[in-house]
Amino acid sequence: MNKVNWGILGAARIVEKVLPIIANSINGELVAIGSRRKDAAKSLINRAYPELLNKIQTFNGFDSVINHPKINAIYIPLANEDHTPTALKAIRSKKHVLIEKPMAIKSSDVDLLLNESKKHDVKIMEGFMYSFHPQFERLLDIIKSNILGEINYANSMFSFPIQPARHYRINRPIKLGGGALWDIGPYAIHTLRQCFKENPMRVYAQSKLNEHNADLSTTGMIDFGQNKRATFDISFECTRRSEVEVFGPSGRAKIPTIWQPENQKAKIVYATEKSGYHEEIIPIASHFELEFKHFNECILKNAAPKLTPQDALWNVKTLEAFQESIENNAWVNL
Ligand SMILES: NC(=O)c1ccc[n+]([C@@H]2O[C@H](COP(=O)([O-])OP(=O)(O)OC[C@H]3O[C@@H](n4cnc5c(N)ncnc54)[C@H](OP(=O)(O)O)[C@@H]3O)[C@@H](O)[C@H]2O)c1
Repeated sequence: MNKVNWGILGAARIVEKVLPIIANSINGELVAIGSRRKDAAKSLINRAYPELLNKIQTFNGFDSVINHPKINAIYIPLANEDHTPTALKAIRSKKHVLIEKPMAIKSSDVDLLLNESKKHDVKIMEGFMYSFHPQFERLLDIIKSNILGEINYANSMFSFPIQPARHYRINRPIKLGGGALWDIGPYAIHTLRQCFKENPMRVYAQSKLNEHNADLSTTGMIDFGQNKRATFDISFECTRRSEVEVFGPSGRAKIPTIWQPENQKAKIVYATEKSGYHEEIIPIASHFELEFKHFNECILKNAAPKLTPQDALWNVKTLEAFQESIENNAWVNL
């Protein structure tokens, strides 16, 4: 096998971006898309890449994709609460799975997915595309070089005003996967954990909830122990922000467009006590393209994905702890 054959479950918005990337990949091929809505997969291909209409199979429903004999890997960009049941079916059908973040909305479900993936000998990865972009790798290099000193504080912010067409993202309580915490929170929080290369000791957050008990805005704190702290702010009511900044005793470094760099020049800025202000332009790259290329290589070479199962487990554990903190207005230990 020199290419991975992909199936996609659901005609989600994100698929309009990802479809051309899988279809044009050097080590992957798109075989089929299934949607629970009649003909939605076909109209998505027509919108995103009409030249492929006769090349990609479309199905009404998921089972024909999950059980497709030619397909080796399945991409799951469904609503967060649908990730676990569909991923379980795919894993039990011996397909590798790339699941959009968060992998699940309960850490016990992540455990179940990881155990099943081991049992059926398939690879599983949570889709944090930003971590494959060279601008994030450069930030990690700067941190590692120690020119900032040992990082002791970081802050991340992700927001945009939610459009009425997207109100289905905030129409159910946080504990059922609704709101900003489970939607954009995974990016803001995962990035902080990656910068520190630590897992939280305890967390605290406060939210503004809507009438469905979904959070429209959440501000949180993470205590990593040993005087390492982080804060984040996420919101569906605030202007567009997509940034992370890390601080040490000798300097600071920032990515101003970390999760949404695609159509803009990626850049990183840093300043040190010794050498002053620096700005580096990073060549434009597609984080989705790099993410799929990596996962394809892992399947083809039987290598472990860079985003590990344990990382996915800690991601969901941390989000669960934030959920509990919002409910009880108290610090939660992990
Ligand atoms: N990595 C990223 O940059 C990124 C960006 C956005 C989202 N995401 C993640 O990807 C996942 C999907 O997000 P999304 O915003 O792309 O999903 P979405 O458009 O809300 O679609 C989610 C699912 O709902 C169904 N659906 C779509 N439009 C619908 C409609 N008009 N009426 C009824 N059902 C509809 C689709 O399944 P059927 O076709 O089977 O009905 C689809 O798979 C989430 O986990 C999200 O967090 C990631």
